[in-house]
Amino acid sequence: MARQPLVAGNWKMNGRQAFATDLLAGLAEKALAGVEVVICPPFPYLGAVTGAAGHLKAGAQNVARTEDGAFTGEVSAQMLADCGCQYVIIGHSERRALFAEDDDCVADKYQRAQDAGLTPILCLGETLEEREGGDTEAVIARQLDAVLARHGAASLARAVIAYEPVWAIGTGKTASPEQAQAVHAFIRERVAGQDHVVAEGLRILYGGSVKADNAASLFGAPDIDGGLIGGASLDIASFAAICEAAAN
Ligand code: 13P
Repeated sequence: MARQPLVAGNWKMNGRQAFATDLLAGLAEKALAGVEVVICPPFPYLGAVTGAAGHLKAGAQNVARTEDGAFTGEVSAQMLADCGCQYVIIGHSERRALFAEDDDCVADKYQRAQDAGLTPILCLGETLEEREGGDTEAVIARQLDAVLARHGAASLARAVIAYEPVWAIGTGKTASPEQAQAVHAFIRERVAGQDHVVAEGLRILYGGSVKADNAASLFGAPDIDGGLIGGASLDIASFAAICEAAAN
């Protein structure tokens, strides 16, 4: 069965209410058939997305690793689901690097998301140093196995993976379609080693300086099923063009 393309916009800590309104209005005008579009704004603006009419889905950028309780400042997976959120980004390299989230923390958050009925968008990716040292596959395998060991390959039937090479995030340096395809194929094969049906249906997004002008060539690779978009998701025309590239 063909995998439906997915494009998710990760605003990171950017955007305002008015931007959300404009973006939703801009996308509503496009006929985005054949692509699932997820908007991941900062928490305060999630309601603008969940409240919008139409086909856009809401995703959070983070979730607590614990259930509800005395954890000041945290937002639980149950709360996100309660508010109409459907996706949550887990294990983004900025969370791993800037907020010290290790593989164990990522696996906890993955579990909380799934328990609440959210679909985790699990991010994997190597640094430039790791790539240049020939360690790309070892790093991706370690990050992936941390989740597989705890939750099994079957859990990926209710998840999305995003391959985000750290060196390509926000740098304007994109992995070539060949470089990205090679890692996507590696991820799919590794999952297939445990469950080939789940691997076949698993959507693997590419993230890292996807722009309107490189999206089509990346999305043309056989194991690239869409994108996780940072900077370009803050420009309505660019983001719409990327969604259209995925739909085609
Ligand atoms: P950029 O598209 O800005 O490189 O960011 C990618 C990213 O981190 C999406 O999660």
